[in-house]
Amino acid sequence: MPDFDFESRIIDIPDYPEPGVVFKDITPLFDDAEALAAVVDHIASHFANRGVTKVVGAEARGFLVGVPVAYKLGCGFVPARKPGKLPREVYSQSYALEYGTDELQIHKDALVHDDRVLVVDDLIATGGTAVACAQLVEQAGATLEGFSFILELAFLHAREVVAREFDQEMFTLVQVD
Ligand code: PRP
Ligand code: MG
Repeated sequence: MPDFDFESRIIDIPDYPEPGVVFKDITPLFDDAEALAAVVDHIASHFANRGVTKVVGAEARGFLVGVPVAYKLGCGFVPARKPGKLPREVYSQSYALEYGTDELQIHKDALVHDDRVLVVDDLIATGGTAVACAQLVEQAGATLEGFSFILELAFLHAREVVAREFDQEMFTLVQVD
C-alpha cells in the first residue's frame, strides 16, 4: 500500500477548547475522498486476514472510522454509546476523565463468544476510552484482536497504559510526540 501523508491533513488548533490545549482537527481526513479512502484502506488492510468479525467504535468520532473500516473488512460494526442511548440490555463500562467519570455501553447481544474484535477510534489520548471499549469486549466474552487509531498522542503514554491490561496490537497511522 502506498504511503500517505496523514499528518499534513491534521490541523492543530491552539487554545481550543480551552487555553493551553492544542486541539487536533482530523476532519480534513474525512472531507477529502482520497484521504478518507487512505485512512480506511490502511487500517483495514493492516487487519485483513486476521479473522476480525466485529469492529467496536466509541461514540461519536469512533463511528466515523469504525463503520467504513468494518465495511472494508467485511464484518459488522458495534457502537459503544454514551449511557441511555441504547434501547435494549447493555453491558456498561465506566472510565476516568480528567475530572469525573464517563461510561460507554454496548448491546448485550451485539457480540458473541466467537467474535474477534477490533477496537477503533479517531485518536487515543489518555487511553481511557480505548480501555473501556476493550473491557466491554471482555464483558461480552468475545476475543480482542487489536486496536487502531488514526492519531496517537504519544506524549500521554496511553500505549503503555493500555498494554498493562491488554497485550493485543495497537496500530496507529500518526504519532505525535
Ligand atoms: C475523544 C476522541 C477519543 C477520546 C480519546 O472523544 O474521539 O474517543 O477523546 O481520549 P482518551 O484516550 O483520553 O480516552 P470525546 O470523548 O472528546 O468525544 P467525541 O468522540 O464524541 O467527540
Ligand atoms: Mg471520541
